[in-house]
Amino acid sequence: MIGRGSSAGTAAAAESLMFRRMGRGAGMNTAALAMEAVIEHAELQSSISLSSDDLAPRRARAFTRTKLTEWGLDALADRVLLIVSELVTNACRHGRTKSEGVLEEITLTISYQNAVVGIELEDNSRQLPVPRKGPISALDGRGLCLVAAEADAWTSRLNPDGTGKRVLAFLSWPSTPPAV
Ligand SMILES: Nc1ncnc2c1ncn2[C@@H]1O[C@H](COP(=O)(O)OP(=O)(O)OP(=O)(O)O)[C@@H](O)[C@H]1O
Ligand SMILES: [Mg+2]
Repeated sequence: MIGRGSSAGTAAAAESLMFRRMGRGAGMNTAALAMEAVIEHAELQSSISLSSDDLAPRRARAFTRTKLTEWGLDALADRVLLIVSELVTNACRHGRTKSEGVLEEITLTISYQNAVVGIELEDNSRQLPVPRKGPISALDGRGLCLVAAEADAWTSRLNPDGTGKRVLAFLSWPSTPPAV
């Protein structure tokens, strides 16, 4: 999970982030790197551990909606909830390491700092997500395309301690600070 750090240098990092922002779908790696630096200093951050099962997406959405409302970020709810749904579904479907029926946990973390919302989904698999390039008629392989369309940047990282990975998505919020 991303930790909460000191706020030193955060304003400069956020400013640099806004300059680097290249629009949805473009320059993802550069933008994600810049946004990841900002989220390290999250002012507002909350996590939930979920059983990796069919109820996880619904529970994740409820948790996320509550946090966005508390933080005055309802205007971003549609985009954030879609991303959370896709990442949690992927973690449950593709990120499991134990056999079916064995309890496994995933962790969702929502963060806010200097006009950036961060969504982090940690699962136990060391396999990084790779967007699929299927035919236009394909019915699946769409989730990460939706994440890329709605997020300003996304990326994934193996946990340094060898335990699993995190998939991260970021949205900018070029407006006034949240209500809390
Ligand atoms: N958390 C994850 N862990 C491991 N692999 C993943 C993870 N998320 C995605 N992937 C891999 O990336 C691929 C693309 O994911 P994506 O969400 O775009 O499609 P999908 O889950 O296969 O289908 P859909 O989301 O349309 O139901 C997956 O098929 C899977 O191989
Ligand atoms: Mg998917």
